[in-house]
Amino acid sequence: MKFFVDTANVADIKKANDLGVICGVTTNPSLIAKEGRDFTEVIKEITSIVDGPISGEVKATTTDAEGMIKEGREIASIHPNMVVKIPMTVEGLKAVKVLSKEGIKTNVTLIFSANQAILAANAGATYVSPFLGRLDDISQPGIDLIRQIAEIFDIYAYDTEIIAASVRNPIHVTDCALAGADIATVPYSVIEQMTKHPLTDQGIVKFQADYKAVFGE
Ligand code: E4P
Repeated sequence: MKFFVDTANVADIKKANDLGVICGVTTNPSLIAKEGRDFTEVIKEITSIVDGPISGEVKATTTDAEGMIKEGREIASIHPNMVVKIPMTVEGLKAVKVLSKEGIKTNVTLIFSANQAILAANAGATYVSPFLGRLDDISQPGIDLIRQIAEIFDIYAYDTEIIAASVRNPIHVTDCALAGADIATVPYSVIEQMTKHPLTDQGIVKFQADYKAVFGE
């Protein structure tokens, strides 16, 4: 399973990229707003850090296909690695169809059912983003959705890749890998949590103590 980092925070993106474990970035309007920076400026900076797919979402206030297509073309023109993130709506599907025919990569976001994922794949989406954590938040096991989509895409050999989104903790990550997600997009804090194990820390302390007892500092 591949990893993308899910943030618009340039410092976190640099930290994740330095680890060599991520190959892309996802952003959304909330993450861009959190940084309080101009969309194009921050996206350009991200493309200079990570050489891989960078998802930039159409404006949250743009809800018609025509508007999304226009913005999608602008986002795609920022850098060849750009992926246009489009919400899962009727208008969004129309925009995905047009953009994908133009060779522009798309990521259909806010996917909460297998049927939505099938529609997005049929419209030509490069990626679908099912939101695991937000389903868990309303007491519906999000991982079941990832598993269903993975199974369906496998049966019909869809090229569309599954980005497990709204990943909130290391258990989500393992579950997504087992469920067959192609990619998990995770906040940097989760990547850091994934590196840790108390026995690793204890092991380092013991190796240091044993080494120092014989060879000194
Ligand atoms: C990624 O594409 C999503 O925008 C993101 O993972 C949402 O995460 P959240 O539900 O924790 O806000």
